[in-house]
Amino acid sequence: MGGRGISWGIVGFGWVARDYAAPGILAAGGRISAVSDPSPTARDTAASLGARPCSALPELLAQPGLDAIYVATPNHLHRQAVEAAAAASLPVLCEKPMAATLADAEAMASAVKRAGVLYGTAFDQRHHPAHGAMREAISAGMLGRVTAVRIAYCCWVDACWTADNWRADPARAGGGALMDLAPHGLDLIHFLTGEPLAEIAALTQVRVQDYSVDDGAVLIGRTADGVLAQMHVSYNCPEALPRRRLEVLGTRGQLVALDTMGQTPGGTLTFTDGATGEQRLLPVADPLASPFARQMAAFGRAVSGGDRSPFDIERDLGLMRLLDRAYRNAPPCR
Ligand SMILES: NC(=O)c1ccc[n+]([C@@H]2O[C@H](COP(=O)([O-])OP(=O)(O)OC[C@H]3O[C@@H](n4cnc5c(N)ncnc54)[C@H](O)[C@@H]3O)[C@@H](O)[C@H]2O)c1
Repeated sequence: MGGRGISWGIVGFGWVARDYAAPGILAAGGRISAVSDPSPTARDTAASLGARPCSALPELLAQPGLDAIYVATPNHLHRQAVEAAAAASLPVLCEKPMAATLADAEAMASAVKRAGVLYGTAFDQRHHPAHGAMREAISAGMLGRVTAVRIAYCCWVDACWTADNWRADPARAGGGALMDLAPHGLDLIHFLTGEPLAEIAALTQVRVQDYSVDDGAVLIGRTADGVLAQMHVSYNCPEALPRRRLEVLGTRGQLVALDTMGQTPGGTLTFTDGATGEQRLLPVADPLASPFARQMAAFGRAVSGGDRSPFDIERDLGLMRLLDRAYRNAPPCR
């Protein structure tokens, strides 16, 4: 799978790091050498995996032999970890969204460029096997001229979702469902069509949950070459409802991925022929491969001198700028 032997330091060992990134690192042949987290429980879990548990970032960065840092703290703490990794000349893979504010993301980009280190935002869904198959089919011309992308990516996050739900705190999260969920879809639109979005606009709602960030949003957008995009994200959708759907339409057909957006492999990919209406399931290579394992392997290859193209700080900063503008123009309302 690649990335063999990469020694990782992990900053923030909560849900996504513990349940998805750490298994992904190990599946990609890497090692988790050190973990920093203020939570004793998180540190105990890290120690049980053989990692050195550290209560603070300087202790982690002093660990000899680290090849890369993965940052999975609440969003407002991304900046300090990325800046410290860059100052230590270490490549850094940072969870999405890049930061809680655009100012933080701009500062992170400056620090990374100044230090000349590799940076990636952890858009693991680029590495989902079904999304890879979609991209190949689209670039091979299966859909003809791509006209539109339509996405639903919803879940249930109430105020008590975790003991300390930082996602419901504007200062720590930087926003609600829009800031948390939309980056994945907007990045996928670029990945699938080969075109970055040139403009987006959003409407938000605070409709169901008892907190001050948005619990739902719709976004519309357009690439410079005219592909239209629409996306519905929410924290107020019961999990048993159909809630993860990714469609790409073109002049010759349509691809629909169901239940592929998320942290796990699986889901289905269906092609509908634009001339006959005939539908068929599209085969996906290595369908059970974890998107996180593939992401960690890809970052490991980039660290080891291989392909760096999946990771691009200018691309990710451009997305943050679009999100920030759309969000500021769409204040939450009841
Ligand atoms: N790619 C994905 O699919 C995905 C999924 C979930 C979360 N995320 C992102 O990952 C990040 C973490 O989300 P989560 O759901 O794992 O949150 P979480 O609350 O479960 O975990 C965050 C961890 O960071 C620790 N932490 C707090 N302050 C710290 C500090 N100063 N230094 C080190 N660690 C610190 C906490 O103790 C906790 O263990 C967020 O940016 C989130 O947006 C991405």
